[in-house]
Amino acid sequence: MKVFLLITLVLSSLFGAKVVKISEKYESSLKCKVCHKRIVDEWSHSWHAKSHFAKDEYFRKSLEYVSRKTHRSLNAVKVECATCHNPRISVTKTGEDYEIASVMGLAKGSKVEKAVNDKAISEGINCVVCHNVDKIHDEYDKTKRGINRVEWTKNGLMTGPFKDAKSPYHKVQSHEFMTTNPNKLCFVCHANDRSVSGLVFTDMQSEYKGKKKCVDCHMGKRHKDYASTYKMYNGKARQRMVRNHGFKGAHFASMWRNALALKLQATKRTLTVELYNPQPHNLPSGYGSREIVVEVSYKKGTKVLKEKSISLTRTYKRKRNKISTAHLARKQSADMSIPAHGKKILRLPLLKGADSVEVKVYYRLVNDEVRDLLDLKEAIFFQKMFIVSKVLKLKK
Ligand code: HEC
Ligand code: HEC
Ligand code: HEC
Ligand code: HEC
Ligand code: HEC
Repeated sequence: MKVFLLITLVLSSLFGAKVVKISEKYESSLKCKVCHKRIVDEWSHSWHAKSHFAKDEYFRKSLEYVSRKTHRSLNAVKVECATCHNPRISVTKTGEDYEIASVMGLAKGSKVEKAVNDKAISEGINCVVCHNVDKIHDEYDKTKRGINRVEWTKNGLMTGPFKDAKSPYHKVQSHEFMTTNPNKLCFVCHANDRSVSGLVFTDMQSEYKGKKKCVDCHMGKRHKDYASTYKMYNGKARQRMVRNHGFKGAHFASMWRNALALKLQATKRTLTVELYNPQPHNLPSGYGSREIVVEVSYKKGTKVLKEKSISLTRTYKRKRNKISTAHLARKQSADMSIPAHGKKILRLPLLKGADSVEVKVYYRLVNDEVRDLLDLKEAIFFQKMFIVSKVLKLKK
């Protein structure tokens, strides 16, 4: 029995996406730092650098929750989520045999366990994730994402935007998804995120409007700087048009300022709050249970008469209508996000006696329901990030 299990354990790791082993020379961003210091520093503050379960409390606790509620081993769920969060993992699929071995205590020291705890994936979405993508299979079924949508380059070959680059440390290759069509690279993972029962809770690709590049906003405009400070060209480093590798997004309060536009109007009895989203994707978007909070205060002079808070969020139900995270959802509530290049209108009753009304709009990474469910503790998951506010004087 033991032998049979061990054999199937080895076999099961042979199926799934094709793995290309990365040598120690390339696996860590520290190896790139001598020549690409600026880029490594920028990237290290990004949430791509925190996509590993050890570095993101929300991700780790969601993962543990999925494991608990589906009665599957934690390692099997880690492998599954690695599809997009840690795509250089060396085992890309586990089966029933692993579950049995795990329950029987035979999984210690297995390939799966080694893969999950390997330091090679501890940096999350690092340089050799994006720059080792060789092919993106857009002809594949749209449910195949992350690892299952790409092929990797040979160890030591970096794909990049430049056609004429030379490096003493690695081979280089230029690709259209690093130059004219980078959205294709982002959509490998930023699309069709689905629950264990197949419910799609976010799909940035299908909601996307227009041809704007993700990198224009999340890596900033191209500007002059060194791609590498190594003196490669006649004893000199060359200036290039480069981008910032900070990938700033929802976890950075500065990014939320004015991400939405606000308009207020009043008739005799009704206050109309219009939220316009100038971005090419919905807001919130990305992960489920994100929240936009609209706070309204009715005032007379400087005195606040009444306050009201409206939550624009999505909630999820698992088996037997119990509340859950997006990943276990069988059902989801109506989409409350503000559509790309579109608006959401809220109509509220006005308050008698008020002579002005102030509306403030905020964003939160997770709503109360899921934050409590997972017992998140880190301050960032309690933070209210300011977006926009306005005051409207009311006519008597
Ligand atoms: C999420 C994907 C992603 C990750 C992770 C990533 N890059 Fe990039 N990188 C890109 C894209 C896309 C471009 C092309 C940007 C453009 O010019 O439009 C790029 C450009 C570059 C360039 C060319 C110069 C420049 O700044 O535009 C270098 C060099 C580079 N990356 C190195 C690195 C290193 C080193 C790391 C790890 C610290 C890294 N990249 C991590 C996506 C990524
Ligand atoms: C010894 C120096 C050195 C080290 C170490 C190094 N590189 Fe480079 N790399 C270069 C030089 C030089 C260039 C060319 C820069 C130019 O043409 O402006 C380059 C270019 C690149 C490009 C752009 C290629 C293109 O065609 O656009 C990428 C991507 C890249 N490196 C990634 C990495 C990654 C990832 C690591 C770490 C695993 C790394 N480099 C380590 C020197 C280095
Ligand atoms: C290999 C999969 C993968 C690819 C490719 C990828 N991303 Fe991501 N991205 C992720 C994951 C996973 C996270 C969430 C990390 C976390 O919060 O733990 C993320 C987070 C982000 C965030 C949110 C950061 C924040 O502060 O909240 C932005 C913005 C982003 N990615 C932009 C991009 C862009 C632009 C590209 C294309 C150049 C890209 N990503 C390519 C998987 C990917
Ligand atoms: C015109 C600028 C613009 C473009 C283009 C753009 N975004 Fe965004 N994105 C924003 C703004 C503004 C926000 C809200 C503040 C923030 O999170 O950065 C945002 C938020 C996000 C978030 C967090 C969403 C949430 O509600 O939690 C992710 C993930 C993201 N963008 C990824 C992408 C990807 C992937 C693309 C390309 C397919 C893209 N963005 C294109 C401006 C842009
Ligand atoms: C299809 C690719 C994909 C798969 C598979 C995937 N994720 Fe993600 N995940 C993403 C992307 C992209 C983001 C960033 C979206 C954003 O910033 O709003 C993300 C963000 C998250 C976040 C938010 C983190 C934060 O700090 O705000 C959590 C939690 C999360 N994922 C949990 C999971 C779990 C648990 C699994 C496995 C059961 C999983 N993900 C599998 C693509 C994926």
